[in-house]
Amino acid sequence: MGVIRLIQDLMKHRRSIRKFKKNKFAIEKLCSIVNAGLLAPSGADQSPYAVIIINDEQLKIEIRQECELADKYFHTDSPRWLKEWFAKKNITPEKLFLTDAPFLIIVAGNTTMPYWLESTWIAITYIVLTAEEEGLCTLTYTPGRMDFLVPLLDLPKEYNPVVIIPIGYPDEYPIKSENEKENKIFFNKFGETNPTRLS
Ligand SMILES: Cc1cc2nc3c(=O)[nH]c(=O)nc-3n(C[C@H](O)[C@H](O)[C@H](O)COP(=O)(O)O)c2cc1C
Repeated sequence: MGVIRLIQDLMKHRRSIRKFKKNKFAIEKLCSIVNAGLLAPSGADQSPYAVIIINDEQLKIEIRQECELADKYFHTDSPRWLKEWFAKKNITPEKLFLTDAPFLIIVAGNTTMPYWLESTWIAITYIVLTAEEEGLCTLTYTPGRMDFLVPLLDLPKEYNPVVIIPIGYPDEYPIKSENEKENKIFFNKFGETNPTRLS
């Protein structure tokens, strides 16, 4: 019961952070956070991903430049509703968080493994929630394209970059969005919102 409460608190309090303080924190803390990903369930228990931790300032600059270029195109080509959502959230192609956050965690999935993408995202969730437990904030950032990471990070060809997670201390305190979250949970049939007796 106690453990469930703690996890629910972490989930409720976690927010995507897009403004980070430059304050550093110990790499040991980060290693324990990314190791939590390995505790996640994965297809055939293969943990089919590699985690690359980045603190090289020049590399962060190069990654930011490529991401800003990719997101410029992504924002231009987005449908109107998404452009409006970006504007409401103040999300622009400028990605300061990629150079402000002291570390970037890049997770790349091994595409030759079964269920590689599903397993990789579950591990990412474990990482993000463990960061929260350690008092750190994250963003699951997925730029319009990530193939430039393959040569930059010397990734083997079977690995696809899946996410870039800046991690650090927040420099903003967003409240939970008021997005419509109704009509997501049904009972026995899609559309049935009345809980039926299960016993
Ligand atoms: C698969 C996935 C991809 C995402 N990609 C981006 C992204 O590219 N840029 C960004 O700013 N946020 C990204 N996010 C963060 C979402 O915008 C954010 O989770 C959502 O707005 C809800 O806000 P919250 O995380 O604070 O609850 C992504 C989240 C997920 C799960």
